[in-house]
Amino acid sequence: MNIKSSNLVTVKHRITVEERWKENKHKGGILWFTGLPGSGKSTLAIELESYLFQNGIHVYVLDGDNIRQGLSSDLGFSPADRTENIRRIGEVGTLFADAGFIVITAFISPYRKDRELARQVAGNFFNEIYIKADVTTCEKRDPKGHYQLARTGKIPEFTGVSAPYEQPNNPELIVDTNNQSVDKCKEHLINFIGTRFTH
Ligand SMILES: Nc1ncnc2c1ncn2[C@@H]1O[C@H](COP(=O)(O)OP(=O)(O)O)[C@@H](O)[C@H]1O
Ligand SMILES: [Mg+2]
Repeated sequence: MNIKSSNLVTVKHRITVEERWKENKHKGGILWFTGLPGSGKSTLAIELESYLFQNGIHVYVLDGDNIRQGLSSDLGFSPADRTENIRRIGEVGTLFADAGFIVITAFISPYRKDRELARQVAGNFFNEIYIKADVTTCEKRDPKGHYQLARTGKIPEFTGVSAPYEQPNNPELIVDTNNQSVDKCKEHLINFIGTRFTH
């Protein structure tokens, strides 16, 4: 990591992460959703957030379009800007997880090396979840009309059309949204959370 400042002295928290888990009655961590535009990241993230919240879990969704209007408002979709966007989410997601939250990040995060960097930063908090659907299906769904705009050249550098998507090699979980309903996918995710975040 590149740190510009020198003479930094880390302040040590008096509250340990285990103490936060005990208080919350569940562990914290990151569910890092990755997948093509239209694969279902936002849909499943919001579904899951509602379910978990109703069940007393400390949970929060970080979603691509929202973050690009705030924290990452200075960034576009060039490879360097995508990398910086994901770097920031890796850091922010780790802070949320360290604070005891289950944080669901819903970003295309198309580059393997960027996701690997987020994994390095987050350590054990990190769970890569491949929201899997092929381009044909995603393009048919086209919930925001972006594929159509990308095909006609009105959106440049669009993942799946004119920019690459690198599939995860070894994700902690694959959620197949091509062949499964939203409810079924949600069920898979809830089961996964049960195995990983119980304290
Ligand atoms: N199993 C599924 N999981 C998630 N979304 C699905 C599924 N089946 C169909 N869809 C539809 O696909 C679209 C996914 O859009 P969205 O969640 O915005 O994708 P993303 O955030 O990945 O770009 C929505 O219109 C949703 O209703
Ligand atoms: Mg989305």
